[in-house]
Amino acid sequence: MSDIIDEVISSFRTSSIFVNREYLMPDYIPDELPHREDQIRKIASILAPLYREEKPNNIFIYGLTGTGKTAVVKFVLSRFHKKFLGKFKYIYINTRQIDTPYRVLADLLESLDVKVPFTGLSIAELYRRLVKAIREYDSQVVIVLDEIDAFVKRYNDDILYKLSRINSEVNRSKVSFIGITNDVKFVDLLDPRVKSSLSEEEIVFPPYNAEELEDILTKRAQMAFRPGVLPDNVIRLCAALAAREHGDARRALDLLRVAGEIAERLKDSKVKEEYVHLAKEEIERDRVRDIILTLPFHSKLVLTAVASMSSEDNVVLTTGAVYETYLNICKKLGVEPITQRRVSDIINELDMVGILTAKVVNRGRYGKTKEIGLAVDKNIIVKSLIESDSRFADLWG
Ligand SMILES: Nc1ncnc2c1ncn2[C@@H]1O[C@H](COP(=O)(O)OP(=O)(O)O)[C@@H](O)[C@H]1O
Ligand SMILES: [Mg+2]
Repeated sequence: MSDIIDEVISSFRTSSIFVNREYLMPDYIPDELPHREDQIRKIASILAPLYREEKPNNIFIYGLTGTGKTAVVKFVLSRFHKKFLGKFKYIYINTRQIDTPYRVLADLLESLDVKVPFTGLSIAELYRRLVKAIREYDSQVVIVLDEIDAFVKRYNDDILYKLSRINSEVNRSKVSFIGITNDVKFVDLLDPRVKSSLSEEEIVFPPYNAEELEDILTKRAQMAFRPGVLPDNVIRLCAALAAREHGDARRALDLLRVAGEIAERLKDSKVKEEYVHLAKEEIERDRVRDIILTLPFHSKLVLTAVASMSSEDNVVLTTGAVYETYLNICKKLGVEPITQRRVSDIINELDMVGILTAKVVNRGRYGKTKEIGLAVDKNIIVKSLIESDSRFADLWG
C-alpha cells in the first residue's frame, strides 16, 4: 500500500510541468503586483500615520472581482506590519466567509485576544466587550472588512453603523477601517452616516486589460512553471480570455493553472493552447455546479422546468410557460408551489448568476414578454441538479 502512496507523491514531486503550483493559487500574495502601483502608493500614504501611532482615515475600496483588491490590501498591510512592528494591529475578516454579525464580532474579539463562546451572547454584549477590548488595547487597530457587500445585502448595515461609531466610545481614536466591495453600486445601500464615516477615502480598482493580465501572468508563471514548458502564446490566450471577462486576474490565473494541470494529467511536456480551452470548460463546469448545489429548492425546480423545456426545438419560453411546467413538477414531487411572481424573480436571479438568460422583448401590441433559455450546457445543469438532490433523478427518468 505504502508503495502506491510513495509513487503518487514522487510523481507529484517530480512534476514535469510545475516547479510550484502554489504560486498560481488565488490566496498566494506575490512580492510584486504589477499595474497596481498607484493603488499601493495611495493606500500606503493613507496608512502612513500608523508610523506615528495615529489613526489613519478610513478607506473604501471598490472594484470588480479579480482586480487585485484583496491582494493589494494584504500586501500593503503586511509590509507595514513588518516595518512598524508593534505599532499597530491589523485584523482581516472576509465577511462572505465569516458571515454572521455574531461571528464577525467574535472574530474581532478573538483577534484582540478576548475569548468568547461560540454562541449565546447577545450582539449588544459582544459589542460592549469589543469596546472594552479596544479601550484596553494599547496600539492602533486596522480592521479590514472584505467582500462587505455580500454581508450587508444578507443582513443590513447595523453592524457597520455600530463599528463606525466605535472610536467615539473609546478614549482616543484607535480604530480605522478598510472596507472592500466587489459591487460598485453597493454604497447606495448604506445609511448615509455609515457611508460618510467609512469612505473618508475612496479608491477604485479598474479592471485589467489583456496586456496587463499578460504581465501579471508572466511574472507568476516564471515562479510556477518549469523553464520551457509554457509557450508565450498560452499566456497570451489566458490573458485574452480573462480580459473578456471583465479583466479578472483570478480567472486568468485559474485558466493558466488548470491548463498546466491538464498538460500534467496528459503527461505532455508542454502546455498547449488547446488545454486552455479545455481548462475554460472545466472551470465553467465547476462554477455552474457550485452555484447549482447551493441554490434554494424552488430555484432548482424552476431551473428543472426551463431545462426540461429546452429540449424541444425552437420553443420560445415565456414566464407563463415556465410557470406551467414548474406547477407540474411541483405536483409530481408533491410540494407546495410558490407564486408566478416569485418564479419570475427566481428567473431573474438565475439570469444574474449566469445560468439562465432572460431577455425582455417587445412584442408590439402584445406588450413586453420575457424570453427565457439556458445560458450553459444542459447536461451540466441536469447532472448538477441530480447530484444536489436525488429527487431530481426521478424527474429525468
Ligand atoms: N497586479 C497583480 N499582480 C499579480 N497578481 C495579481 C494582481 N492582481 C491580482 N492578482 C492575483 O489575482 C487573484 C485575484 O486577486 P484578488 O486580490 O483576490 O482580487 P479581488 O479581491 O479584487 O477579487 C489573486 O490570486 C491575486 O494574487
Ligand atoms: Mg477579494
